[in-house]
Amino acid sequence: MRHLIDFGDLKRQEWDELYARASRIIDAPEKFMDVCRGKVAANLFYEPSTRTNFSFQTAMLRLGGTVFGFADPNSSSVAKGETLKDTIKMVSSYADVVVMRTPWEGAAKAASLYSHVPVVNAGDGGHMHPTQTMADLTTITRLLGKVDGLSIGMCGDLKNGRTVHSLIKALAKFENIRFFLISPRELAVPEYMRAFMKENNMPYTEVTGLEAVIPQLDVLYMTRIQKERFVDPLEYERNKGIYILTRRKLERAKEHMLVMHPLPRVDEITVDVDDDPRAVYFQQARFGMFARMSLLSDLANQPRLDQTPVVEIGTKPVCTNPRCITQTQPYLPPLVKKNGGVDCCAFCDSALR
Ligand code: NCD
Repeated sequence: MRHLIDFGDLKRQEWDELYARASRIIDAPEKFMDVCRGKVAANLFYEPSTRTNFSFQTAMLRLGGTVFGFADPNSSSVAKGETLKDTIKMVSSYADVVVMRTPWEGAAKAASLYSHVPVVNAGDGGHMHPTQTMADLTTITRLLGKVDGLSIGMCGDLKNGRTVHSLIKALAKFENIRFFLISPRELAVPEYMRAFMKENNMPYTEVTGLEAVIPQLDVLYMTRIQKERFVDPLEYERNKGIYILTRRKLERAKEHMLVMHPLPRVDEITVDVDDDPRAVYFQQARFGMFARMSLLSDLANQPRLDQTPVVEIGTKPVCTNPRCITQTQPYLPPLVKKNGGVDCCAFCDSALR
């Protein structure tokens, strides 16, 4: 593994190794305090973030490394019209690893084509968020002892929720998972995720109601309705507040069921649930920092490429997804990949028409 763009690119064995190290870090963090001594991470956050940015920063600091970057692209040369390619070529000359969050789908993949050092996708629009998945899997494995064989419910905005897409990709690497996808019809998982689940023989049940399925679950993964991703504000108004997990609803859940949430929470979990021992979302955020330490200790220590591979220059836009990075960075090559036999954009996964 050189970059972490999409959890689907990781082999099961690579995840097992990352988890094993994360677990060793959780048990004795002081043993890892010099693992990235002298290394520098660039945190490029083109989109608001508290948890992920702080989590990556503290992860690097706890490994003995340092961090620079921006949390507001208006304070960088992006505001002057610099291309992503130029920003990445320059930043990857200074840093040993680049962590980036953007509103454009496929941007981390695009950056990885031009970077001299490993690139980590810390969230690309409504597409993917693989390091949140590292936090999620670490939490499940540490607290339930396994991932195989569990019944996992994912609830909320499954269309725009990138954490859900990455988690589903990761769970394809485990055995006998039962999926309950709980969302309003208009916020169901995107077509490329459906194709992925079919291709990987992942049986799933789609429902619109939360209460009826709660008693069957080992994990309930709640998500926020992603207001900033809605093109139509009325669609957001129709769906906000649609799922609210309360103490009363939890009464019918299994005693060991984990209530998880990538955070930030808006109103989808009432505050009185926080005191229930099954509510593990704050612990999940802490596990996320350790999981990122595990990742950075590997990536920041990889050799730098002095010459990056030559990348063909795009001639025509192939992707019609308005949120795809290829829409704003026209020099990108028109890369295509297959999802369930269908030609898709290799940056954002949307089907090509
Ligand atoms: C998530 C994200 O940014 O996608 N947050 C996070 O990284 N912890 C979830 C969200 O914003 O709803």
